[in-house]
Amino acid sequence: MAVKYPVTITQTTASRLQSVDFHNLPFGKVISDHMFVVDYDGEQWVDARIMPYQNLEIAPSNLALHYGQSIFEGLKASKRDGEPVLFRPEMNARRLNSSADRMCMPQMPEALFLQAVKMLVDLDRDWIPEESDCSLYIRPLMFATDEYFGVHASEKYRFLIFTGPVGPYYAKPVKLWVEEVFTRAAQGGAGEAKCAGNYGASLLPAVRAKQAGYDQVMWMDAVEKKYVQEVGTMNLFFVIDGKVITPATTGTILRGITRESFITLLKGWGYTVEDRLLSIAEIADAYWRGQLQECFGAGTAAVVSHVSSITWRDRQLELPPVDDMHRPVATRLKHYLNRLRMGLEPDHYGWMQSCEHSGVYELLEEAVV
Ligand SMILES: Cc1ncc(COP(=O)(O)O)c(C=O)c1O
Repeated sequence: MAVKYPVTITQTTASRLQSVDFHNLPFGKVISDHMFVVDYDGEQWVDARIMPYQNLEIAPSNLALHYGQSIFEGLKASKRDGEPVLFRPEMNARRLNSSADRMCMPQMPEALFLQAVKMLVDLDRDWIPEESDCSLYIRPLMFATDEYFGVHASEKYRFLIFTGPVGPYYAKPVKLWVEEVFTRAAQGGAGEAKCAGNYGASLLPAVRAKQAGYDQVMWMDAVEKKYVQEVGTMNLFFVIDGKVITPATTGTILRGITRESFITLLKGWGYTVEDRLLSIAEIADAYWRGQLQECFGAGTAAVVSHVSSITWRDRQLELPPVDDMHRPVATRLKHYLNRLRMGLEPDHYGWMQSCEHSGVYELLEEAVV
């Protein structure tokens, strides 16, 4: 990899690694020792550094806090033959840049993004869990840093990356509620961007669905409340009469990297895959005809999350039991991706990247934080 960016590294002398119970990893709570930080000064990215994970000092007038110029990504590292590997990290770099474009934020050079992820993961490689269904979650984010309380696009930004070991996201199959009152995104909005506001607006409907006994809401399109969009932090797949159908990404839903990978894998395995508008009425119809065979969510966090039921108004669609016999498509995808990550499947598509880097970096004295 051609490395262009000098990075300074300040290593911690007070690693928290020994305090982590790797057999009991709640999703999102445990954070590794170091983080990567780089600043945009209005013209270029400057002062790339890796330092011990620590709090930030932010002005109350920080623009991101008020007007939401804040975007993020999510990807995972695992170990293959004892070495850290990443799954399609360049796709995250590109999606970050399309989110940045939509939110009027600067582009992050793909080479810098990749170098930063690789250096950080390499440094904190002992934080990568080796237990099955566990991995090191990597969270890149970018936010405005101008101190100014008029609505405008910030000139300065910060990009940072931190990581944390995680266990399974949804331990059980999920029950979905078809949401027809609230919507997630409309055509022309920012639904396709991975921006903070999309997630903030999804919380109230999600909390209400939880209170009513469901795990997540299934979003419908904002105009007709008819076409299935996505779920929480996952894209959706349905198997109807042997065909695999996934809602088209028409600007309102996130272009999931897992989704795209699944489409490629399924086509390669000879499945018919339809990437198109799919109405909830068509799904219910297939159910009543006995043709709705599988429904699952696809995303980095959960990889595959089986759906056990879909509730649409007063209609309850109960999906087949979750086992290899009843869920062959979802199970095959999940096993394949997990095995690919561990190096147990050949990497036909060249999706896995090692964390080796010939980084130009300066190792500073160790610091206790
Ligand atoms: C809203 C939303 N949809 C879908 C996904 C799945 O995307 P990916 O497979 O890239 O993780 C995510 C997770 O990033 C998400 O937040």
